[in-house]
Amino acid sequence: MSTTNDFSAKRSFSEAVLQRSGLTAQRSDKPSRGLFLAPMEDVTDPAFRALCKRYGADRVYTEFVNADALVRDIASTTRKLTISDAERPVAIQIYGREPEAMAEAARIVETAHPDFIDINFGCPVKKVAGKGAGAGLLRDVPKMLEIAKAVVNAVHTPVTAKTRLGWDEKDLVPRINPLGLPKHFQLSTDQLLSTFNSQPSTFILELAERLQDVGITELAIHGRTRAQMYTGKADWTLIGEVKNNSRMRIPIIGNGDVCTPERARECFDLYGVDAIMIGRATFGNPWIFAEMKAAMYPDSPEKPDFPVTMAEKVAVLKEHVLSAIQWCGNDERKGIVHSRRHFAASPVFKGLPDFKQTRIALLRAETVSEVFAIMDDIVARWGND
Ligand SMILES: Cc1cc2nc3c(=O)[nH]c(=O)nc-3n(C[C@H](O)[C@H](O)[C@H](O)COP(=O)(O)O)c2cc1C
Repeated sequence: MSTTNDFSAKRSFSEAVLQRSGLTAQRSDKPSRGLFLAPMEDVTDPAFRALCKRYGADRVYTEFVNADALVRDIASTTRKLTISDAERPVAIQIYGREPEAMAEAARIVETAHPDFIDINFGCPVKKVAGKGAGAGLLRDVPKMLEIAKAVVNAVHTPVTAKTRLGWDEKDLVPRINPLGLPKHFQLSTDQLLSTFNSQPSTFILELAERLQDVGITELAIHGRTRAQMYTGKADWTLIGEVKNNSRMRIPIIGNGDVCTPERARECFDLYGVDAIMIGRATFGNPWIFAEMKAAMYPDSPEKPDFPVTMAEKVAVLKEHVLSAIQWCGNDERKGIVHSRRHFAASPVFKGLPDFKQTRIALLRAETVSEVFAIMDDIVARWGND
């Protein structure tokens, strides 16, 4: 593992790459350090992305969009391509298991004009990975590379990818030829030499190089294997090793369990990643990006405002409920059910004394007037705690 000084030696090069790839500069001495909203199914819809963007997300991602359904022009899927200029830079993520369908889907996605087309090589759930898409491709790297190459060749938009450390714990151990690829498989002279030199390497280190070779412009890595799903602690050491592999030129985005500004700073400092992707910690907490930036760069003039008091935060949650209802076709009940994940996980309602009954009522409410009345009551009772 390299030291922090090695990271700074690479900085001027990665700065140029970052500028081209749209990663935002936070301050002149902090060229990268983007904080991105992770793609999340049923969560990162336009309503939520808009709030995260307002409160400082440097890039937002749609939920993953099924390539086959896009090609078949299924209305509920094409709707997921809805993006607006206000949320840029925005990435639309697609998933699938066939190169041709993925290339066709990417061409369709390009008509929505996202800033990035992201490929999902990390989804662990059975209905996706079990069918050979998402993280399923970690067991068929030649196919994964074929898909990446087909998508890159199909569009002019930069194509990025998001993956995991490997399929299971066996992929975490350094091995010779860890991808199990035939030696001649799409290898550059440099890689051929390194293969013949037969130094053991880890799966993700090799995979990142191969994805770079086929034209992926940025790689996001969730520090877990497929087998881990969402359990255990994300392991950032391998993410750091990918970032500090001298053959890697593309930006590396680290992901997994970043919930506090202290941890975000630590991940930047220890592992040198170009950006951090934040997932679950954004639930009911879209201002987390601005909060993190305020803590990490207290002297920066570019900090976005964010809600501080409980009343201010509840006002944002109410706004989210209304925009979620709009996104759900003005179906009040559907929009509220869609927002419940955010109520359930929001830090605004964490640790309040004697909150159990109110929490149950909040998670059962089915109309805006009920939800808002309960929220007003919460502010009145606990707002000054
Ligand atoms: C509800 C939910 C939905 C998700 N959907 C997607 C998805 O559509 N595409 C994707 O690449 N990852 C998806 N993920 C994974 C997240 O993007 C992220 O990698 C993971 O939550 C780890 O980051 P965190 O620890 O910051 O939450 C999802 C995660 C959750 C919790």
